[in-house]
Amino acid sequence: MCGIVGCVLKNDKVAPILLDSISKLEYRGYDSIGLATACDGKINLKKDAGKIDEVNSKLNFAEMPGNYGIAHVRWATHGDPSKENSHPHLNSAGTIAVVHNGIIENYLAIKEDLISEGYEFKSDTDTEVIPHLLDKFMKEGLDLEKAVRKVIGVIEGAYALAAICTDEPNKVVATRKDSPLIVGIGEDEYFVASDSPAILKYTNNIAYLDKGDIVILTEDGVTFKDENDKVIKKEIDVLDWSPEMAEKEGYDHFMIKEINEQDVAIRNTLGEKKKIKAIVDDVKGTINRVVFVACGTSYHASLTGKYLIESLVGIPTEVLLASEFKYSAKALNDQTLVIFISQSGETADTLKALDAANEVSKTLAIVNVRGSSATRRADYVIQTQAGPEIGVAATKTYVSQLIAIYLFSALLADDEELLKRLEKVPDYIDEVLKKQGIIREISHLYKRDKDAFFIGRGFSYPIALEGALKLKEISYIHAEGYAAGELKHGPIALIDEHIPVVVVAPPGEDYKKIMSNLQEVKARGADILGIGAKGDKDLIDESDNVFLINPEVDDILAPLVYIVPLQLLSYHVSVIRKLDPDKPKNLAKCVTVE
Ligand code: M6R
Repeated sequence: MCGIVGCVLKNDKVAPILLDSISKLEYRGYDSIGLATACDGKINLKKDAGKIDEVNSKLNFAEMPGNYGIAHVRWATHGDPSKENSHPHLNSAGTIAVVHNGIIENYLAIKEDLISEGYEFKSDTDTEVIPHLLDKFMKEGLDLEKAVRKVIGVIEGAYALAAICTDEPNKVVATRKDSPLIVGIGEDEYFVASDSPAILKYTNNIAYLDKGDIVILTEDGVTFKDENDKVIKKEIDVLDWSPEMAEKEGYDHFMIKEINEQDVAIRNTLGEKKKIKAIVDDVKGTINRVVFVACGTSYHASLTGKYLIESLVGIPTEVLLASEFKYSAKALNDQTLVIFISQSGETADTLKALDAANEVSKTLAIVNVRGSSATRRADYVIQTQAGPEIGVAATKTYVSQLIAIYLFSALLADDEELLKRLEKVPDYIDEVLKKQGIIREISHLYKRDKDAFFIGRGFSYPIALEGALKLKEISYIHAEGYAAGELKHGPIALIDEHIPVVVVAPPGEDYKKIMSNLQEVKARGADILGIGAKGDKDLIDESDNVFLINPEVDDILAPLVYIVPLQLLSYHVSVIRKLDPDKPKNLAKCVTVE
């Protein structure tokens, strides 16, 4: 939650660059925005609640003077979205400014102490303790960097923060623990940011901070210090992502752009096969149990992993929600492989579980964001190659996670035939994308619905769950994904002529059973949207509307392809309902709090 940027330039005005960079992080939080720049011994501060464009048209951030500064987009945790609670926060003298991402768990005790010492607070945030602590420590004689070091000895919780101070011009000091922060090293321009899309336009040279590292940006370059205060060198990762990858490139929204990039994302992730094979060779024969751990959409990818590993390899496999992991952690041992799935690699629940699993078991992380915390903590890493995903709804990262899981499972099972079939998946997705106009038309029929059901069996059950999650998060229509066989054990009581039911019915061993389940809901009046194979006459006859897919995509491959029309459905329903699919209310792309 929240995005931060800090920047020092040698010869240029910083505000337009801060504004541009922070706009690329709007997916991390969009209830308020603020910038602080400094020059001539004075901090200039502009901030307010609202989306970036709205606030910018009122405040005109770009005209702020100064060649160094910090910026923030907020997803409120402590205190409602308001001007006062927006970042940056200042000390009382207005000489220190701070932006922060994360939660300071002991802020109330610190706040009480500071108030008793005469400090006055203007906001309800946990963050505001930081500028006051910095003020206190600098008054005791510390410079900004040493004061930041002392602050991180006092605050508890998860954070990434950046600070500037007029007493030390042309400098940004930043640090992190548990919330992400990367460093960008350009030519005469130096950055810190929550994520690389913020700075891709300016530099591809990225360094990653470890917990407790401090980075000092000045006009002359970047200095890194580790948690023991020793100057260290950092490896520079030269990202092969282009700035356009973080732009809409003519699409109305990032979500539809990213849905349309799924064939490429899969093709690129298939290129990781050799690296995945090396991991498989290492773990093969040493494990007798697999546990997947993830949240949200990544949890649905994990459920497909369970079906794959159990059916192809026969190793008992469980899937746990990361937030519930600790209740099962005691059952792990050194013959368990724990697989963590996370597009961001920064989800707090997932990282907490990863740390616990590392103590007893082998761990593998399947992650899209390079250099993210999960990639630095797991024993093995599979890097999905979806490129930057900006839309809050996970789409191309989801299919990339899936293809990585398919590769891993097929290699573990030595299933050459499946490995061959996977090569054709990008073409199947391409065929679906070519027919996306059909889904756009169908979406109009669902725009006024309040509820919807999605049903599937076996490999199609996670498709139903993911289709329902997409619809609710992007369109705000209440949607339930159900194992089709489970419907008659309760939820069928809700079915009537007002409830649409999306039936995921690919060819395969469950086909006849899912068609019986279709009949059960149809008999109760439900409106049926069938997703099935081209030429499936029964499905066409029994459904009110259908979307048809290449019949070579059977139940085993269905999770990779059948999800695409459901993503498109949620996108178009959202747009028709005049919502913003890229920034659904109350959500953020990266959930760094437990
Ligand atoms: O970054 P992660 O994959 O760990 O994120 C997990 C969930 O927060 C995420 O999948 C969430 O459910 C998305 N909004 C789904 O579109």
